[in-house]
Amino acid sequence: MAKYNFDTPVDRKGTYATKWEKLPEGNEAGALPLWVADMDFPTATPIIKALHERVDKGALGYTYYADEVKAAVTGWFLKRYNWQVKKEDIFFSPGLVACIATMVNTLAGEGDGIVIQPPVYHPFAMKIKANGRTVVNNPLILKDGRYTMDFEDLDKKLADPKNKGLILCSPHNPTGRVWTQEELKKLLEVAKKHNKWIVSDEIHADLTRKGIVFTPLAKIAVDYADEIITLTAPSKAFNLAGLHMSNVVITKKEYKDLYNNWVGERHSTGGLNPFALAANMAAYNECEDWLLECNEYIDANVDYTMEFFKKELPKSKPVYIEGTYLFWVDLSAYEPDSVKLDALMKEAKIALNDGAMFGEEGRGFQRINLACPRQIVVECLNRMRDILIK
Ligand SMILES: Cc1ncc(COP(=O)(O)O)c(C=O)c1O
Repeated sequence: MAKYNFDTPVDRKGTYATKWEKLPEGNEAGALPLWVADMDFPTATPIIKALHERVDKGALGYTYYADEVKAAVTGWFLKRYNWQVKKEDIFFSPGLVACIATMVNTLAGEGDGIVIQPPVYHPFAMKIKANGRTVVNNPLILKDGRYTMDFEDLDKKLADPKNKGLILCSPHNPTGRVWTQEELKKLLEVAKKHNKWIVSDEIHADLTRKGIVFTPLAKIAVDYADEIITLTAPSKAFNLAGLHMSNVVITKKEYKDLYNNWVGERHSTGGLNPFALAANMAAYNECEDWLLECNEYIDANVDYTMEFFKKELPKSKPVYIEGTYLFWVDLSAYEPDSVKLDALMKEAKIALNDGAMFGEEGRGFQRINLACPRQIVVECLNRMRDILIK
């Protein structure tokens, strides 16, 4: 029997919620927000309790990345993925995007190329460009509603000495792919052949559909694990993004030194807040049952959405998402001009993510955040159908 209620929306009024109050440009106030990647579910009770207890201590001074916190993180990796990580290989970051910026700066020189796989989470390209490095695209291949990697093209891109490494999105946002072990092994083969690093963004690792297995890249890298930097966090799975806490796994001494120098010596961005520590530990130590139920609820939202598109918008091309809660659908058959398509969504008063923001390959797509009560999903999809079929 279900222990948690995901059907009742959490009231986010008065919390300065970005998702509800800072809608992307062009959206009218009051539009239904299914855009930025956070959830409209109440936070798991043990996390709320841990935060209350932390407040009750009445002391909010500086805190550090204690062994007990690291043990919660490594314990989670072991339990969920049978992945053994040593506590000396794990580092704090206030967020994954902040860490990507650090990696771009420390692992590549000015002007150097960094490979990404569009359509992909847009801050990858943004951070590469903003830090004076060069975006090198290795676009994914879309065939029969499923995305795969173009290994031949990747081989060429990584062979170029100007290109220093790859930022991998695993699971992949926005296409929802959870890469198989076979795909990851092939990827490692190519990277190893050219001796290039991989920064693996695994923030969505814990959000997978029933029967789909996520594999941490570093776990299977074996003799190449030193060239893998893993970025991970409880922030997506447990909806803690506002607390700014993520965990980075680095095993190679040289990369650890570069990281510590950048974060500690040069920028002093290594400080963590007491609430993030408390929430991180409660999530990983006490909330697996909540996560399992949450994933089941998202599974049902995904199934509902797939069916809706098939029945109500039969010319659409929905992509079955194996992971994340970010649904990805090609609506170009209803409006081939992607700018006009996006304008239609705004006219329907639904705030989504325009596919084009994830790269040219995303034109004609929309991304829909399904981490919300079913009634919000239903309302969003009805509004979409009514505007597309006039
Ligand atoms: C793939 C991916 N990486 C990173 C982030 C954001 O991470 P953070 O808030 O820790 O910077 C997101 C948020 O949607 C994401 O989808």
